[in-house]
This record gives sequence, structure tokens and C-alpha cells, in this order.
Amino acid sequence: MNTQIDFESIGIGFGTSPLKGDEAASAVTAAIEVGYTLIDTASRYENEEAVGQGIRDSGIARHDVIIQTKLRGRDHGNVRGALEQSLTKLGVDYIDVWMIHWPLPMLGLYAQAYEEMAKLQEEGLVRTLGVSNFLPEHLDEVESRTGLVPVVNQIQIDPGIHRSDLRHELTRRGIAIQAWSPLSKGGELFDAEPVKAAANAHGITPSQAILAWHRAIGTIPIVRSTNEERRKQNLHAVQVTLSPEEVRAISALPQRPLGEWDPATHDER
Ligand SMILES: NC(=O)c1ccc[n+]([C@@H]2O[C@H](COP(=O)([O-])OP(=O)(O)OC[C@H]3O[C@@H](n4cnc5c(N)ncnc54)[C@H](OP(=O)(O)O)[C@@H]3O)[C@@H](O)[C@H]2O)c1
Repeated sequence: MNTQIDFESIGIGFGTSPLKGDEAASAVTAAIEVGYTLIDTASRYENEEAVGQGIRDSGIARHDVIIQTKLRGRDHGNVRGALEQSLTKLGVDYIDVWMIHWPLPMLGLYAQAYEEMAKLQEEGLVRTLGVSNFLPEHLDEVESRTGLVPVVNQIQIDPGIHRSDLRHELTRRGIAIQAWSPLSKGGELFDAEPVKAAANAHGITPSQAILAWHRAIGTIPIVRSTNEERRKQNLHAVQVTLSPEEVRAISALPQRPLGEWDPATHDER
């Protein structure tokens, strides 16, 4: 099994939370039909069956799609059982990218869970292991227990939470960075002056400017849309190259605190 996944060349992934049922399945099918090859789900999203259905309905060959799912908090002590469930629900015999969804340091089980995940990878049930919402101290603990460095960390990043220190640290460690809620869930950033200015200069939409900013800072956005036109727009946005000044201006937007999404305290099982 080829364990290498070139996230840089994939460039963008399709997010599926909080879509469920037929809406999730049809969004995934349509996303694959327009060219997305990386599909992000999680046990906690409770849509793995629908995501699997959507992938099958698209007709894409299994080896041409990257399926990534996540171990939820309540399964940190039930790693094999959780993988079996995800495989069954998705209807596949291996996962491409399997992540720990949140470190949940209050449980103290994530490093042990990662060690268990590595055994399942050796059995050929998973191609690549990653994490999500991990801070350097969590990566240190995984590495000291297992000697392993996750291939990818999926974290919250948008122009209002750009987390440059964490990004630099992940890059220093050779860990690919995926951005969740890359558009800040379609919020007020679309009206920010530097975003509008970059959009006007390139003849693109504000959301496309934000996705182009992600590529410029080296993050792989995992973006969701239930709208056909917007799915296409988002896919094409990652080919737009912003100027260094445009990137700097967007990065200089005021920063919000992580608040409830701080991985040191966030408790989501
Ligand atoms: N690892 C984690 O802890 C974690 C946490 C949260 C999310 N995620 C993952 O990250 C994915 C993306 O995050 P998200 O879904 O919260 O937020 P998002 O992708 O930043 O934003 C999605 C919202 O933006 C709108 N949108 C998308 N493209 C647009 C465009 N071109 N123009 C205008 N509006 C647009 C969508 O509306 P329409 O549908 O109407 O287009 C939707 O309301 C999730 O689906 C999930 O897979 C991971």
C-alpha cells in the first residue's frame, strides 16, 4: 500500500460537516464530479455512511479518491473498534487518512490511541495517520511515546485566526497543514477590505480570495458547500496566485481568540 499522500498537489479538500443523509451523499457525489479528490469526514459527524454512498454514486475508482476520517474522543480507548465502524459505515476496506479528531488532554489517552492507530496502519487498514487540533505539546507527547510524527494536522485557520506560530512550528516538523472552516463558515470576512481588494484585483469572489490566501500561506483548505456553483468556484480558487502584498494585507486582519475551540480545553467526544 502506498502510504505517501501529496497534500500539496491536492491543494483543497471537500468538507462534509454538518451535512447528513441524502444531502451529504449528493454533495459528495457532486463534489467528486467537479474534481474534488480529497473528502473529509469524521465519526463524530455521523455521516460516514452517507459520505461512502456519495463516493460510490460518483463512480470514482477507490484509488482515485482520498477518504479521510477521524477518531472521536469517546473512542480514544476503543481504537480498533472505532476503525472497524468507520470502515463499515464508509463501505471501504481501508482509510486513506485517519486522524485523531481532538487531543482531549483531559482524558490523557491520545498518545496511546495514536500508538494503537499505528498498529492498524501496519495491518494495511489505513494509509496515513494524522491528527486534528493538535498543539506542539500534543505532538511532542505522541512522538515521545511512539517515535512517530503525524503526516498532517487539521486545524482551524482563516484570515481572522491565522495561527502563524503554530503553522511555522508544524512546517518545521514537516507536518502538512489542513485548514478547517477555512472561510470561517462563510462569515463576515467576505466584507473585509483586503479580501474585497484582492477579489476585485483578480476578478474573483471574496471566498475565492480567502481560499487563494490559504494556498499562499501553505495551508490546504477543507471547504464545504452545498451549492454547485460555489463548489466549482472554491476548487478553481486554489489556482489563483495572490501578490505578496495581498497576502500580507489579508494576514494583517484583526485576530479573534480561539475561545471554545482552544485544543487545550475543548472537550468534544
Ligand atoms: N477537525 C475539526 O475539528 C473540524 C471542525 C470543523 C470543521 N471541520 C471540517 O472542515 C470543513 C469545512 O468547515 P465548515 O464547513 O465549518 O466551514 P467553511 O467551509 O469555512 O464554510 C462553509 C460555509 O461557507 C459557505 N460557502 C462555501 N463556499 C462559498 C463560496 N464560494 N461563497 C460563499 N459562501 C460559501 C457554505 O454555504 P453553501 O453551502 O450555501 O455554499 C457554508 O455555509 C467541515 O465541513 C469539516 O469537514 C473540521
